[in-house]
Amino acid sequence: MSLLEEARQVAAEFDYTAQDVNKGVKEFIRQMDEGLQKNGTSMSQIPTYVTSVPNGTEKGLYLAVDLGGTNFRVCSIQLHGNTTFSLTQSKVAIPRDLMTAKKAQELFSFLAKQIETFLKTHHNDHFEAHHERRKAMSPSENFTDDELFQLGFTFSFPVHQIGINKGTLIRWTKGFDIEDAVGKDVCELLQKEIDALHLPVKVAALVNDTVGTLMARSYTSPGKTGTLLGGIFGTGTNGAYVEKLDRVTKLSTFSGSTDYDKSTGHMIVNTEWGSFDNQMTVLPNTPYDTALDAESVNPGIQMFEKRVSGMFLGEILRRALLALTQKKECQLFKDENSSSNDIHSTTTIAEDSMLYKQWGIDTSFLSIVQEDASAGYRITRQTLSRDLGVDAASIEDAEAVKTLVAAIGKRSARLSAVAIGAVILSTGKMDDSTQGNIAKQENNEVDEENVIDIGVDGSLVEYYPGFEEYIREALREIEGIGEKGEKRVRIGIAKDGSGVGAALIALVAGSAEKPGR
Ligand code: BGC
Repeated sequence: MSLLEEARQVAAEFDYTAQDVNKGVKEFIRQMDEGLQKNGTSMSQIPTYVTSVPNGTEKGLYLAVDLGGTNFRVCSIQLHGNTTFSLTQSKVAIPRDLMTAKKAQELFSFLAKQIETFLKTHHNDHFEAHHERRKAMSPSENFTDDELFQLGFTFSFPVHQIGINKGTLIRWTKGFDIEDAVGKDVCELLQKEIDALHLPVKVAALVNDTVGTLMARSYTSPGKTGTLLGGIFGTGTNGAYVEKLDRVTKLSTFSGSTDYDKSTGHMIVNTEWGSFDNQMTVLPNTPYDTALDAESVNPGIQMFEKRVSGMFLGEILRRALLALTQKKECQLFKDENSSSNDIHSTTTIAEDSMLYKQWGIDTSFLSIVQEDASAGYRITRQTLSRDLGVDAASIEDAEAVKTLVAAIGKRSARLSAVAIGAVILSTGKMDDSTQGNIAKQENNEVDEENVIDIGVDGSLVEYYPGFEEYIREALREIEGIGEKGEKRVRIGIAKDGSGVGAALIALVAGSAEKPGR
């Protein structure tokens, strides 16, 4: 068998057919329903107590922080009230050892310090004025809410939300593992460290990044159609959507706040779809997925996420490539006379190659390879050398790698379509269409009234070439959506969604009549 044939055979293990997609959607809807009714289900369907989406007229200056992936971001957001905003932000990589620290305090004090640095750098006048006031105040005196920066805390892990700024951590995901924090109120953990530094900041809202994305997209999205779904396809994956309040039947047995606005008849629900089908009834599986899961910090959990999101695609690819190189008769990276360079040379894999290290391949590698249309796949071969220490890879090697990359990326996007399609169908959005503008429809144009708006964010949708097109292809294959329905779906990037969204929720939390500074 030629190298390319071998690669195609492995790639075929990642096929996810139209029939699989439809089966996936049905089961997804079933698990969504189940999650709305009871606690402790595979998909958590967490009520967020956010009962409306913004319309673009909101105003004020807010702080937001974002913990949930590779970086910690601190930003201040000025909402201008005309669907636009300005944002100042700083970003630091989270030290790896803090992700698995012994004590929660180690991580949260690091976060508070970043907030302090940000305030000193970007809002020093305000910061200094507070310091002066603090010194003049008696120890028993406290700042009033009006004197504090209201902060929206985007915390992108599954949290049992008890109120707008109160929620206990259910479990860590995406490689974080600090046992001490599980079950604790993460807002309290952060507030404690903020107070220890005497910062003029109140943690006013706790927000999942998907909820932030949904809010931000609603604030900025064109037209009057409210956004249905906020989805993250980045290091992790998840979605939050607008659900009818009376369908969230578990609210009556939920140990959460009862103090929320019920008049809208809606509530945003954080699906935590990363854990869709942990029981593996319909999810596709390959030996590489199985091994990845077994050696992860949370085996048996986040099974959907482990097939979809950025943190895992590189690792799936690494395991598939490694398996091919370990096959005696397979020629991957073994060319003794590789003619890809002007000089003929032997392909070598460095002893300390990232190919041999768990998590050794980053998703950006997949994006680069997927995009590569250079002659003789020069870019892929260069990247193999730079990132994986594979020198003098042949054109056939590059083709084989490309074949695997495309298969893994495509499966991820088609699974993403299952989640998006299921939310659209379960909320009855496809039946919602009004008669609308007949002329436009006859012209095969979608009219604004019938648009189903979806806000997305994350490195995969943003940078993986063709990701949205793969999603759309699969949406067209879904019974009940089809060609016509897919056209109604508008997918837009909600850039900085988690920052702006958190600010918007901090605003709602502080109530609209008391705008931020
Ligand atoms: C977390 C979600 C989060 C998603 C995207 C998942 O691992 O469980 O809460 O929304 O990643 O960041």
